Amino acid sequence: MISESDYEFLSDLLKRHSGLTLGPGKQYLLESRLPPVAVTFGHPDLPTFFRALRAGVPAHVVKTVCDAMTTGETLFFRDTKPFTALENELLPAAAKQARATGRPIRIWCAACSTGQEPYSIAMIVQKLEPMLAGTRVEILATDFSHAALARAKAGVFNQFEVQRGLPVQLLVKHFTPVPEGFEIKEELRRRITFQEINLLHPFPGSWQFDIIFCRNVLIYFDVPTKKDVLERMSRLLTRGGSLFLGGTESTLGVTDTLVRVPSHPSGVFCRPADLSLVEAGSRAA
Ligand SMILES: C[S@@+](CC[C@H](N)C(=O)[O-])C[C@H]1O[C@@H](n2cnc3c(N)ncnc32)[C@H](O)[C@@H]1O
Repeated sequence: MISESDYEFLSDLLKRHSGLTLGPGKQYLLESRLPPVAVTFGHPDLPTFFRALRAGVPAHVVKTVCDAMTTGETLFFRDTKPFTALENELLPAAAKQARATGRPIRIWCAACSTGQEPYSIAMIVQKLEPMLAGTRVEILATDFSHAALARAKAGVFNQFEVQRGLPVQLLVKHFTPVPEGFEIKEELRRRITFQEINLLHPFPGSWQFDIIFCRNVLIYFDVPTKKDVLERMSRLLTRGGSLFLGGTESTLGVTDTLVRVPSHPSGVFCRPADLSLVEAGSRAA
């Protein structure tokens, strides 16, 4: 049984460090996910662990607690439509612009979890190589969770994971069977740079992206946190750049620095000033 004051303390800790907003009545989440963390740090039960946390929390313990509380649910080509839009419209449009400016196309997959999303993007990039005609595509995949990112980098997925969203011909093309399941081939893995990034922290000043995927993470944040992350992301977009949010996510009522692109039912957003550019780019692609 978690006391009211322990629940408040943990809720506050999670919100400040990871953005996760528990809300009322989610004690069961702490009760199901934190006992193994307590044991790892030498505490027999949650009350003892929480007492130690309240006495002073070392950064690595906070990180492990936040990691344990995040939801890493993901799958290859999740929701299909964003990837169709990426392949048929957004990447061809970005390629035209990149050719005109002589710079690479930059894609950021924020909150990439165990890697299925950036690997899906990389498979499309590889498929479009002839159309890209030498234009370099840089894919940055980031997540707050050290454990999720380690799995993403390893690129090994079990039978269940490869059965979720991945067409069999892509499994055969991009993976090698290993005892644990299937390992992504190096030619695909090396297209992606993995980095541990907390979306609550300032983004590096040099970052600029043509396309950002930030899907199914903002749902866990409260409105002021969503607004802060989205507004900082909007400043990283190149002219005509676009942002994908998850199927249930929107900028409506959160910020007006990003608006939905009406011609895209797949959750594409851009800066209001770029709307006609993104629409035109998609039509011309
Ligand atoms: C539900 S998964 C979404 C994965 C993928 N984007 C998708 O749509 O399939 C949410 C991910 O967000 C990450 N996350 C949660 N809070 C974060 C934060 N403050 N900064 C960066 N990543 C965070 C979690 O570690 C988790 O991997």
